[in-house]
Amino acid sequence: MILHSTPLVKMISHVFLLCLMASISSMASTIQSSSPPSEESKTYIVHMDETKMATLQSSLAGSKKWHEAVFDSILELSAQEAREEEGEASSPQLLYAYNTVLSGFSAKLSPKQASSLEKIDGFLYSFPDVLLNLHTTHTPQFLGLKPGAGLWSQSSMASDVIIGVIDSGIWPEHESFQGNHFSPIPKNWKGKCEAGTNFSSNNCNRKLIGATAFWKGYEASGGFINETTEFKSVRDSEGHGTHTASTAAGNLISGASLFGNAKGSMTGMRYTARVAAYKACWSTGCANSDVLAAVDRAVADGVNVLSLSLGGGPQDYYADSIAIATFGAIQKGVFVSCSGGNSGPSAFTVSNAAPWITTVAASYIDRSFPTLVTLGDGRTFKGASLYVGKPTKQLPLVYGSNAGGEDAEYCQSGTLTRKLVQGKMVLCDRGFNGRAEKGENVKFNGGLAMLLLNSEDDGEELLADTHVLPGSSLGATASAAIKKYISSSKNPTAMIKFLGTVYGDPAPISAAFSSRGPNIMSEDIIKPDVTAPGMNILAAWPPSLSPTLLASDKRHVSFNIISGTSMSCPHVSGLAALLKSVHFNWSPAAIKSALMTTAYTVNNRNSSIIDISSGSPATPFDFGSGHVDPERASNPGLVYDITPNNYLEYLCSLNYTSKQMSAFARRTYRCSKRSVRPAAQLNYPSFSVLLSSDKPNSVSTHTRIVTNVGAARCKYTVQVRQPNKVTVNVVPKVLDFSKIGQKLSYKVTFVGNGRKGQSGYSFGHLIWTCNEFTVRSPIAVAWQ
Ligand SMILES: *[C@@H]1O[C@H](CO)[C@@H](O)[C@H](O)[C@H]1NC(C)=O
Ligand SMILES: *[C@@H]1O[C@H](CO)[C@@H](O)[C@H](O)[C@H]1NC(C)=O
Ligand SMILES: *[C@@H]1O[C@H](CO)[C@@H](O)[C@H](O)[C@H]1NC(C)=O
Ligand SMILES: *[C@@H]1O[C@H](CO)[C@@H](O)[C@H](O)[C@H]1NC(C)=O
Repeated sequence: MILHSTPLVKMISHVFLLCLMASISSMASTIQSSSPPSEESKTYIVHMDETKMATLQSSLAGSKKWHEAVFDSILELSAQEAREEEGEASSPQLLYAYNTVLSGFSAKLSPKQASSLEKIDGFLYSFPDVLLNLHTTHTPQFLGLKPGAGLWSQSSMASDVIIGVIDSGIWPEHESFQGNHFSPIPKNWKGKCEAGTNFSSNNCNRKLIGATAFWKGYEASGGFINETTEFKSVRDSEGHGTHTASTAAGNLISGASLFGNAKGSMTGMRYTARVAAYKACWSTGCANSDVLAAVDRAVADGVNVLSLSLGGGPQDYYADSIAIATFGAIQKGVFVSCSGGNSGPSAFTVSNAAPWITTVAASYIDRSFPTLVTLGDGRTFKGASLYVGKPTKQLPLVYGSNAGGEDAEYCQSGTLTRKLVQGKMVLCDRGFNGRAEKGENVKFNGGLAMLLLNSEDDGEELLADTHVLPGSSLGATASAAIKKYISSSKNPTAMIKFLGTVYGDPAPISAAFSSRGPNIMSEDIIKPDVTAPGMNILAAWPPSLSPTLLASDKRHVSFNIISGTSMSCPHVSGLAALLKSVHFNWSPAAIKSALMTTAYTVNNRNSSIIDISSGSPATPFDFGSGHVDPERASNPGLVYDITPNNYLEYLCSLNYTSKQMSAFARRTYRCSKRSVRPAAQLNYPSFSVLLSSDKPNSVSTHTRIVTNVGAARCKYTVQVRQPNKVTVNVVPKVLDFSKIGQKLSYKVTFVGNGRKGQSGYSFGHLIWTCNEFTVRSPIAVAWQ
């Protein structure tokens, strides 16, 4: 709830962009139900059998493209039916043909045309298009990256890596994307710099090497691009895409800050990487058909890493465009990092959870923007804000019916009464509208300050916002105390003091908004995979936009601080690009394995990373394998590799039909008994174990193969922390490697001795160690 209505909102809801979208399932259904009656055309994403399309293409001998021939057939079939019913056939409208990461097309089709697809040879299945949502000065130090050393040494930073960012576009003039000091664009780069509204092909340079915008799907699904506020080009009018691109790969810029907060050098994780911007997200979301077109293009253009800070709710993989398109990407060796969504802290909310995707959760860094709120009775509470200014006076406090009419507690537009609010500090509950927007409403009505109150569900999570008046967020405990104070005191007052930027907080902490596992689509794989900085992150911002995105906010900034898994995802994209620099030939699965097995689970105080929503130690369903540690990931010792074919065999274990399989495989694919690979046999770097609580001694056996990428000769020994009521047996207990590249396998047996009716989850881990190498896998046991 927080996020959705967030203000910074909208940002954050956009920001969190896609990720946020997560509640998408509800959104998607709204969109579908509000779509026109059944007689009207709708956009469909259509999956075709690659083999048959290739045959068709060669039979056409160059006279036309396969999708044109398919279109002719659709027209013919639907015209026949129309004649029979004496109706008029409208032409199907092609949006995109997809050739690189999937085989198929998107098109606007009438119901008749859509049903005629069934009769076309090579048709697999189709889905109506839906909209998805968009879900750093300091983060490199926090991540342990050091100028001139390790991954940031000159030699590793010199190679060419291209990061494709699929988002709301980019602000090309920003210092973060200047390319004067870059070497010429790599010869094998096939991308273009497409001109459009307020964007010319000269806006690209040796840093920003590609720019393409996709809006056909958005418009076909009823999305409206208002050209006075949005650019029909890759130019960013949301801020989100500029922010994420600079986090992954922005140039190193000294003296960045937001009104003096978070001052320092701002740099992308892989600041020497090239950037290609693919704009598929517009003011109300991102159409699946456009996102597919963007991924298809990016992979054809030659990106090495793809960053997607957007998504819908959890979806079956065969119906999930991001899952299908990114499978095509990893088959071509492209690493894919996606935000897990901002729908936490409820369980089963994580999206973008296909096993080949690196799914990123969000956590706090050790930097905060505290405030001190002092009540008239002398009690003080810690809050957070990016407002910069002098402390307020002790101001009279008003709330709810003392501040206005119905819903005044949310400080929505039109609910506050000027007479009641003028000259006061107003309490506003979170929810329903943006956080900064609440402050705007208070200010419009003559209020002097605002306290933004967390609900119990929001917990102690303190989002810092650039309020348009003195304002501070407060955690649930403080909020409850202040409400009690205001109802029991005759003249309640409070003051806010702004403390600026503070470093050295306990961190990381799992953010409450970050979407949580288990993975509802396949509980047999732990998701998210890792966590990375996503709370109050400073990065580039289009100078034409205000930090709150509120129309009344006339401030302009070059850097902004926002939060979301949208922010953590590009950190991992940039880190993957760093790992690519030193291990260019590693598969996407190997890079992901390195990030996972070297992740840490203790904070900077040497105690467990805490989940802020519960105050308890975070679990693999909050942060996967833990917090990324790039320097260790560059030398992980062992990796768990997975081939694209292994993933297909895994999909067979989900009982996918031959048509669904063929869409992923891009050839006629039937699962045979022998080719089924349950998750226990997928070489995943973590263990999700499903045990029965009804049968004593329920057993689950998993096999894994590790590849030696560390020291040629190394004898790894295993160490296990057994989950509660589970006996874990590893065979063998020693893996004795004698050369680089050598693969050794091991088997793990989990025996459940839970009592009858045991429910919930138990956690543990398994670690292989040799000298400096520790290769850790979390274990999550689900009692079923
Ligand atoms: C178009 O881009 C330029 C930068 O080249 C910018 O200064 C200008 O404000 C933009 N136009 C609009 C309408 O935002
Ligand atoms: C486009 O945006 C402008 C500025 O916000 C607004 O005044 C105008 O009404 C919008 N146009 C449409 C057609 O919605
Ligand atoms: C951190 O804690 C562990 C276990 O509690 C202990 O063994 C280790 O020595 C501690 N490390 C530091 C640096 O304090
Ligand atoms: C797949 O089908 C088998 C056999 O019918 C069944 O046991 C299994 O639970 C199914 N798996 C899933 C993920 O639906």
